[in-house]
Amino acid sequence: MTAAAAGAGAALQVDRLVIAYGVAAPAVREVSLDLAPGDVHLVVGANGAGKSTLLNAIAGTLQAAAKLVAGHVTMDGSRLERWGPARRCRAGLRLVMEGRRVFPDLTVADNLLAGAHLTPRSAVRAELEKVFAHFPALRPLTARMAGQLSGGEQQMLAIGRALMGRPRLLLLDEPSLGLAPLLVDDIFGRLEEIAARKELTMLIVEQNVTAALPIASHVHVLTDGQLSWSGPREEFEGMSSFAVSYLGANHRPTAPHGEGS
Ligand SMILES: Nc1ncnc2c1ncn2[C@@H]1O[C@H](COP(=O)(O)OP(=O)(O)O)[C@@H](O)[C@H]1O
Ligand SMILES: [Mg+2]
Repeated sequence: MTAAAAGAGAALQVDRLVIAYGVAAPAVREVSLDLAPGDVHLVVGANGAGKSTLLNAIAGTLQAAAKLVAGHVTMDGSRLERWGPARRCRAGLRLVMEGRRVFPDLTVADNLLAGAHLTPRSAVRAELEKVFAHFPALRPLTARMAGQLSGGEQQMLAIGRALMGRPRLLLLDEPSLGLAPLLVDDIFGRLEEIAARKELTMLIVEQNVTAALPIASHVHVLTDGQLSWSGPREEFEGMSSFAVSYLGANHRPTAPHGEGS
């Protein structure tokens, strides 16, 4: 299979993936996903469901205790599990880890530049401008130490740093974790703008289903390591049992993209 053109999203296939920590029951059991270039898929699930394990398996950042027991992951047809994290990074994969990991003792500017170590020097300025266009709050903070930023600003920086690498596949691990509700809506609004550029494919794992749902075309429900349901967002919203357990009894389906506000 030939690689997709630069600036286009990657295809991602996860095929019956099984990941276990030691001898415990697998944390991820026979999980399969299929994302076309430019897709935005959402994996929802409770604490401990296996969301981070799944993303780390795709990114190549599993902890030493975790073992890929079975299954495989392909990005544009290349078998990722044969590659280390650096090679996956060169192929255009980026993970924004849970808990907004930034370099606290580096400035905002240096954090962003650290994300651009594989980006051609001639393109860095333009990528920086794109990050500031999506996250204008970061522009006046470039000289600030990242450790001094608010939680919301750090999350914007973590996402911005990933974007500086011009990813074709962006994995986001609970981008809303620990943020105030207004900031959560803001972050997902920005992610929606980024997705609309159609330059990358996104896989988001979240517990805050209500906030994340409007930007996804497909939803997967992870329950104790297994996908208990997968389908289009509209179908997820239409099912009263899911709507009530994940979204609350008063939920109204979101308008399709491009309509309404
Ligand atoms: N280092 C580890 N050693 C043993 N078990 C782990 C380790 N990390 C995670 N687990 C277990 O794997 C399961 C999935 O964890 P995780 O992927 O972090 O879930 P989530 O991100 O959905 O909260 C949980 O039962 C968790 O206790
Ligand atoms: Mg997690």
